[in-house]
Amino acid sequence: MDRRTFMRTAATGCSLSAWWALSACASVPTLSPTVEAGRVRVARVDVQAAFGAGSALLLQSDTLPESIYVLRDDNDTYTAVSATCTHLGCQVRPANNFLRCPCHGSSFTFDGGVVRGPATQPLPRYRLDLVGEHIVIELP
Ligand code: FES
Repeated sequence: MDRRTFMRTAATGCSLSAWWALSACASVPTLSPTVEAGRVRVARVDVQAAFGAGSALLLQSDTLPESIYVLRDDNDTYTAVSATCTHLGCQVRPANNFLRCPCHGSSFTFDGGVVRGPATQPLPRYRLDLVGEHIVIELP
């Protein structure tokens, strides 16, 4: 499935969801990368297009061990962190330069650090490298 087809499919799925889910879908751009040899490899042009003006991009795929956020700061530096809250496993969401958990209110910095509990452990980080025209994320 190419990126355009995926984005169309995701938009259709969101439109069939409840209103709150629709709001959430609209606010976080998502890509569905393939995993090869324990790595995610995505063209930078696709990542930048998916980000738009935002600073968070969610990677979701059946081939990933979990959903991963790629986060971009003001200097175009990228970070990859788990999207799974370390408290009880809900998916965190970007909000005002933090990742917040909708279940019990934990907050994390874009590099995974805990700002507010009940979570006590940081979001696991993934190694991310810029290799030529691609972003490569190493999976454990
Ligand atoms: S699951 Fe995230 S704060 Fe409880």
